[in-house]
Amino acid sequence: MICRCLPLGVFFLRSDVVCPRQTRPDLTMRVPSTMLQSMLVAPSMLACDFRKIGHEAQRALAAGADWLHLDVMDGAFVDNISFGPDICTAIRKSVPPETFLDAHLMINAPDHYLPRFLKAGMNLISIHVEREGAVDLHATLCAIRQGGAQSGLAVNPATSVERVLPYLEEVDLVLVMSVVPGFGGQSFMAEVLDKVRFLRDERARRDLHFLIQMDGGIGPAQAAQCREAGADCLVAGSSTFKAPDMALAILSMKK
Ligand code: DX5
Ligand code: ZN
Repeated sequence: MICRCLPLGVFFLRSDVVCPRQTRPDLTMRVPSTMLQSMLVAPSMLACDFRKIGHEAQRALAAGADWLHLDVMDGAFVDNISFGPDICTAIRKSVPPETFLDAHLMINAPDHYLPRFLKAGMNLISIHVEREGAVDLHATLCAIRQGGAQSGLAVNPATSVERVLPYLEEVDLVLVMSVVPGFGGQSFMAEVLDKVRFLRDERARRDLHFLIQMDGGIGPAQAAQCREAGADCLVAGSSTFKAPDMALAILSMKK
């Protein structure tokens, strides 16, 4: 695939730049091999106490988090504003360098802001398929990888899962939203489990290696059905940061 992009986010046709072929995400550097067989759990920083965000990131890691999920919202793509590249940088600086930071960009212009999230040291950057048309998703996914991060594509509950099919060769992760994006603390939408099953089967049929992540309204009570459907990674905000025992909450989602 010829990539029409530069890590600087300047997009134009270049004949010499080819986007790296999809490879199985190398998680062994970031997740102990023993963890790879179990569900990855990524607490969402949106649910943490923002007054002490660095400590909250460390608390989540101490409680057994595999990744940290950073929900970036621009107030336009979703009706909420959370935080941007500077807070992502602050979180990056608050945790050990091997910590896997997963940035979920719920923003209208992921192509424009991408260089700043790459510079902030995000390990995985997910953009929304709903921006198709307004944003060159092929070029942006390529630029994410060119910038040294893993690429993710997110799909909202109301969006058909078929919309992600043209991109599956170019992503390391598909993020299946189980709530309408914008806020934590919402109820799990079980109807999206069919999308997870479909993606699991499509991945096997095409011999691809992207991870399947679910995001929204997930806690110990939802974890088993998410795993059964084929999820590899669960994002959990309220059910972890607001749990009486965060470590127990995380552990119970891994089993
Ligand atoms: C919603 C975000 C989710 C959310 C998860 O737009 O993408 O990551 O923060 O929080 P809970 O687990 O509380 O639904
Ligand atoms: Zn999210």
